[in-house]
Amino acid sequence: MAGKNDVPRMVVFPQTAEVNKQGNLAIGGCDTVALAKEYGTPLYVFDETDLRSRCREFKTEFGKRYTNTDVSYSPKAFTAKAMIKLVEEEGLDLDVVSGGELAFALAAGFPVKRISFPGNNKSEEELELAVRESIGHIVVDNLPELHMLIEIAGKKKVDILLRLNPGIDPHTHKFNAVGLSDSKFGLPKADWDEAVAKALAARNLNVDGLHFHIGSGLFQYEPYLKSLDVVLEYAAAIKKKYGFQMRLLSIGGGFGAQYVPEEVPPPISAFADAIITRFKERCREFKLETPKLMIEPGRKIVAQAGVALYTVGVIKNIPGIRTYVSVDGGMGDNIRQPMYGAVQEALIANRPTAKDTDTVTITGKYCESGDILIKEIKLPEMKAGDILAVAGSGAYAVPMSSNYNAAFRPAIVFVSDGRARLVRRRETLEDLTRHDPD
Ligand code: LLP
Repeated sequence: MAGKNDVPRMVVFPQTAEVNKQGNLAIGGCDTVALAKEYGTPLYVFDETDLRSRCREFKTEFGKRYTNTDVSYSPKAFTAKAMIKLVEEEGLDLDVVSGGELAFALAAGFPVKRISFPGNNKSEEELELAVRESIGHIVVDNLPELHMLIEIAGKKKVDILLRLNPGIDPHTHKFNAVGLSDSKFGLPKADWDEAVAKALAARNLNVDGLHFHIGSGLFQYEPYLKSLDVVLEYAAAIKKKYGFQMRLLSIGGGFGAQYVPEEVPPPISAFADAIITRFKERCREFKLETPKLMIEPGRKIVAQAGVALYTVGVIKNIPGIRTYVSVDGGMGDNIRQPMYGAVQEALIANRPTAKDTDTVTITGKYCESGDILIKEIKLPEMKAGDILAVAGSGAYAVPMSSNYNAAFRPAIVFVSDGRARLVRRRETLEDLTRHDPD
């Protein structure tokens, strides 16, 4: 029987991925071909062991270098009640980005004091909800929000962080670079002083600290270090001016995940090492008491744990041009290739050890030429009915899914120790039509 090591691309599949006795891809001890049959496709399968071990790795690697670190999961990467419960069990915090994500957290019974709320254009209703629920921190993004929050807070005392835009290039895809000066996110430098003065003067706000988030999918830690330099220097300046002692500093998320064997991001330990070293150095240099540190990973916790299963349908070979392999999902459940040129790996779940013979393009069923899941990948010869397992599908696929072409958003299962549990059912025709009056 061929093993995991005989399939090099298996390194980007979840930690428990293996070839089982039936010769199929198994995850969490569950046969993926059987899962596809039982739940239908497209199906998103998450390896619970993988999810939990990433949560623990972040906590351990940052915690052992600086015990006063909170790890906050960013559910925008994968929003589901089951996931929120899992991160709660693992002792992580949560940073929601909308009233909807906050509602998910509340529905999952997440402790409100461990929730923070960034976002560049929060509505009055969203701020009211956050204030009413007394969540841990509202991360104020801009001056209009600050003014609105002072109104909404009324007699209540609200804990906030101020999100500064440090003007640093994270060297990621341009859609995922948000810490540059030309960005809609965070307070531009020109507004820092006014925001600090107003927030500190507001009797109903308690400024607990500062926040930055510079981008997503970072393969370098240098941009975090540069941002720390900028923000800690500013913290020292406002300490001098107002006697303000920062109690909490959030440095956002952004830690890159591995999608293909040849592009390996630095391990979490390397990020932790570089970041904590610089953080302590600069706090010492600027004579700041070291505040609690918060990190907000999303992608790195879920990307590799999630595999999408599709059924192969029409295969179209255009001689001398390209072979299109169409599957029963596509840009409706994963828009990351057309949007970011994302690259992912795949295996045939019912023949994972077969030899690669063909170069094909994996496309979906949507009415767009841009509906591509994987552009040019070497795979064994395929036939209709094969189950294709696409790795690295755990982050930002389902949350960015749509009902384009009136497709159903996919079902999701968690697998662990040979058991699968449905954590989201597939949408139905009724789900699609019930919002429209007759
Ligand atoms: N904190 C804040 C304030 C954020 O805006 C984000 C992500 C995170 C934390 C988590 O970042 P992560 O660790 O996941 O990189 N749709 C894009 C990614 C958008 C990221 C948005 N903000 C993609 O599919 O690549």
